[in-house]
Amino acid sequence: MTKPYRTALSLLLVCLSFLLASKGVYSFIVPRNGALRETRSLFTSFQFEDESPEEPTSNRQAEFQNLEPVQESSIRMERKRKDKETGKKFVSYGDDLWRLRSVMNKLSRRLLDAISDGTPEVEDKVRSQLREIEQQDPELVYEMELKDLQLAKATGKTDDAERHGENAMEARGCIPAFNLEGLWVGKYGHHGYEMINVTYQGDQLIAYKVTGDKNVPKGEITFQVDLSPIKPKAIGSGKMDMPLQPISLTEKAAKKWGTKQLPRYRGLGHVAEPRFSNGQWMEGQLILISQEYFSFAWIPIETQIFFGRPSPELALKMLRENGVSASGGLKAWESPPPIDADVEVLKEFAATCLDLTTEDAEESLEGGAFSCIWHGVDTEECSFQ
Ligand SMILES: *[C@@H]1O[C@H](CO)[C@@H](O)[C@H](O)[C@H]1NC(C)=O
Repeated sequence: MTKPYRTALSLLLVCLSFLLASKGVYSFIVPRNGALRETRSLFTSFQFEDESPEEPTSNRQAEFQNLEPVQESSIRMERKRKDKETGKKFVSYGDDLWRLRSVMNKLSRRLLDAISDGTPEVEDKVRSQLREIEQQDPELVYEMELKDLQLAKATGKTDDAERHGENAMEARGCIPAFNLEGLWVGKYGHHGYEMINVTYQGDQLIAYKVTGDKNVPKGEITFQVDLSPIKPKAIGSGKMDMPLQPISLTEKAAKKWGTKQLPRYRGLGHVAEPRFSNGQWMEGQLILISQEYFSFAWIPIETQIFFGRPSPELALKMLRENGVSASGGLKAWESPPPIDADVEVLKEFAATCLDLTTEDAEESLEGGAFSCIWHGVDTEECSFQ
């Protein structure tokens, strides 16, 4: 197949899947898996009602029946294989990681004892045990590899630098705090629900407001967090440079969230008076609750906002209400364009389908639209000190 033809076909497929979705054939549910299922039901996203698919009404629909799944490209398959392999190297977020860290603490103490006791055999043994398990903690590996990278660069060892750079990125990809990219929704007090966009600039997490309010409007940063494990030593700082200890949960809360501790990171929260005047940054904390929920706390004003992933319908609705449209203007289509039509024409058709689908989806989105976002009632367990 030639490239333009393939592009056209995939555009039509995208379009078709939106059409199907609007007919209730597909249901869009935020993906979820095992451990936190119970909790996640709090955030359950909207689901299309199940209607039986309609009989094909146009002869064009026949073209899309019994389609084989698209063959994945070799690059994509290779990447998936690598991701899986990398995932196996590191302990995943949650209690396995906390257990690993407590074993590391024990071994470190034993190492210190061995050194002060002057027992080199014990020292060697403990040291190699420690080295081995350290390799399973992605945050620790990221930090160590970055330090090695700096050293290799400083000493002009380009091959080493390249290897450490790759290892560092591999570990970084397995750290939950570096996997929050994209859209989230949280309740900003009496301003109501707002959407934010989490982005990364290097190791800085920067959360922009996608929708805003009269204090901090859209497009502005709502909070930011420096996640870099290596911070330049500032003179006279001290306490504020120390990493924050994770929050220990009560037994009940631990069960609910599937983890005994919640990691947290220092950041800066943005506040302002109406019309974005007197904006200022204040001490804040990013608290990871699970891979899919987090909160940010504005410490001095004792405000904590919980963020959850919006369902696709809610995301579209909030974006549209804020003047972000999938297509410029709507064009009325009597019938779909032919498959060999110009790519631009097909694109326009797909965009129209998306807009119509969105309208459909919004009609069915009623008061429960925000039920997917948890607003932190019943959360005394997760509050910060
Ligand atoms: C979110 O941020 C990314 C990266 O900067 C950007 O590409 C994307 O368009 C943003 N999304 C919205 C809805 O603002």
